[in-house]
Amino acid sequence: MTRTQFPFLASAALAALVAVPLGVFAEPVAYPEGYRHWHHAKSMVIHDGHPLADPFAGIHHIYVNDPALEGLQTGRYADGSVFVFDLLEADAGDEAITEGERKLVGVMVKGAETYRETGGWGFEGFAGDSRDQRLVSDGGQGCFACHQSQADSDYVFTRWRP
Ligand code: HEC
Repeated sequence: MTRTQFPFLASAALAALVAVPLGVFAEPVAYPEGYRHWHHAKSMVIHDGHPLADPFAGIHHIYVNDPALEGLQTGRYADGSVFVFDLLEADAGDEAITEGERKLVGVMVKGAETYRETGGWGFEGFAGDSRDQRLVSDGGQGCFACHQSQADSDYVFTRWRP
């Protein structure tokens, strides 16, 4: 190895070391205060045995703020667009399915630069009714891995329904 190559390789190695922790410690996703007054996009019931059952079994409602509603219609999401996945127990009985306890609140917030490691979306989960008990510890990589199948719609599964 010549002396001119060495400094370049050393700085590349350093950059690789720094890049990993930066990705993991991207800006924390804020709890989506007031989301129950946002727009309701859709609902779904997931039974045990479904591929998403662990951890998403139950009934969930998806809420969007104004910029995300616009994004659903245009296909382009401005920074600050937020999706909320409000997951409740699905209580079956008396020939009906009703909402039970809240299991978790999943959040996706658009920040093209802030969250570039995960497709420009910050992912977080809040346990039950907690506003500070966070469930995501890998910078959102696990969430993003599955949402990657929706690359054609900016990693969003939900579709616009008038
Ligand atoms: C194994 C696949 C999978 C994983 C892992 C996953 N999701 Fe999702 N996510 C989905 C699917 C499928 C939907 C659409 C649900 C529906 O149609 O009601 C969805 C929808 C969402 C939505 C509503 C916006 C959209 O894309 O429709 C949010 C918010 C969300 N997920 C957050 C998360 C968070 C936070 C994590 C990680 C803690 C996560 N997801 C992990 C499959 C996944």
